Amino acid sequence: MKFFVDTANLDEIKEAASWGALAGVTTNPSLYARIGGKLEDFEAHIARICEIVDGPVSAETVAMTAEGMIADGRRLAAIAPNVVVKIPVTAEGLAATRALADEGIRVNVTLVFNVTQAILAARAGARYISPFVGRFDDIGEDGLSQLADIVAAVQNYDFRGVGVGDEEVEIIAASLRSVNHVSQAALMGADISTVPFNVLKKCMQHPLTDRGIDTFMADWEKVRNA
Ligand code: G3P
Repeated sequence: MKFFVDTANLDEIKEAASWGALAGVTTNPSLYARIGGKLEDFEAHIARICEIVDGPVSAETVAMTAEGMIADGRRLAAIAPNVVVKIPVTAEGLAATRALADEGIRVNVTLVFNVTQAILAARAGARYISPFVGRFDDIGEDGLSQLADIVAAVQNYDFRGVGVGDEEVEIIAASLRSVNHVSQAALMGADISTVPFNVLKKCMQHPLTDRGIDTFMADWEKVRNA
């Protein structure tokens, strides 16, 4: 499983990239609003993220029609070669996904909450599919089991050649809120987890790791002073 960071905050992206295990970034309009992003600076901001991270950087369309999404997608994809256009799984979104994939533009189909949405997204040429775990939990459903179903269903088929070139579709486990969400996504075989910065930090922490380091340091002090 690859790790993406789910944020538009440049400091967080820089720090996560410095850990050496970051494969990409996802953003959405809410994450951009959260950092106080300005409309006129959006594309420049995505360009700044692409300078920090070589891997896929998802930038979302805010259009509601296929035509608008295609126009947004072309503009966003022109920012940098690693930009992935994020499009919601609606009829208009699927049509735009097909059109952009046919032009060689990679699309991350987002706001996916069931198996049929995911398979339709793959058939429309999505490069990435983003099932949302936490938001499904929020309405009293089981986000992890929904993610497991989607991973299993997509793995039943070979989607190479359906999207851009012969690239395979990848599942991005999204709306992850805890280390357990990330662990379970890995166990069920999600290709990627996109993780909020604070949760990503927690993913590398364990109290026994800290305690072990303290013990090693204390014992090494004894060796130095012997
Ligand atoms: O990647 C999607 C994510 O940003 C949504 O997360 O916590 O707003 O449901 P959340």
